[in-house]
Amino acid sequence: MKIVFATHNHNKLVEVQQLLPESIELLSLGEIGCQEEIAETAATLAGNAQLKANYVMQQYGYDCFADDTGLEVTALNGEPGVYSARYAGEPTDAEANMQKLLSKLKDKKDRSAQFKTVIALNLKGKQYLFEGVCQGEILHEKQGTEGFGYDPIFKPHGYDVSFAEMTLAEKGAISHRGRAVGALVAFLTNQL
Ligand code: IMP
Repeated sequence: MKIVFATHNHNKLVEVQQLLPESIELLSLGEIGCQEEIAETAATLAGNAQLKANYVMQQYGYDCFADDTGLEVTALNGEPGVYSARYAGEPTDAEANMQKLLSKLKDKKDRSAQFKTVIALNLKGKQYLFEGVCQGEILHEKQGTEGFGYDPIFKPHGYDVSFAEMTLAEKGAISHRGRAVGALVAFLTNQL
């Protein structure tokens, strides 16, 4: 089975391909001739994932899945959420995003937050959604140098370290993305 993963991020594609049985071959956007950025204009994570998966299906005719992730902070009513990548404006700047978040939380007691990943899959004319959540809290300052995005200021529940102090494998085993991909892989494996 050939299926498109609607991402331009080669590392994400390799990571997910490794979790799939050999009979499922992932194609990148580049491999199907899609060079354009698919605009993420929806108001929800699920909406953006659906938008990307639908674009590939409609324009290129492939079965496809796409993901979208956001950090939801309780004391900020779910901010930055769907706007996580560009919280401090364009172009995307992870350092500026973290500083904005830390400053908004300065006087807040409740520092609980969660990462959420939603995957939309278009397969044989039907659409399926998969979700992965990782709960935790926002630290008072950055810790660690691994990872990307908000990793240095996010500490998952049950751990004494931030995401940025974990190896890729440790993070993947408990992360929002790891969980959502796990659900997708289980589903696809069952389709064979
Ligand atoms: P995307 O949908 O995977 O592109 O994620 C959107 C934004 O959420 C990224 O630009 C990051 O700011 C943030 N983000 C997503 N996943 C993670 C993660 O695992 N750690 C830290 N930040 C993340």
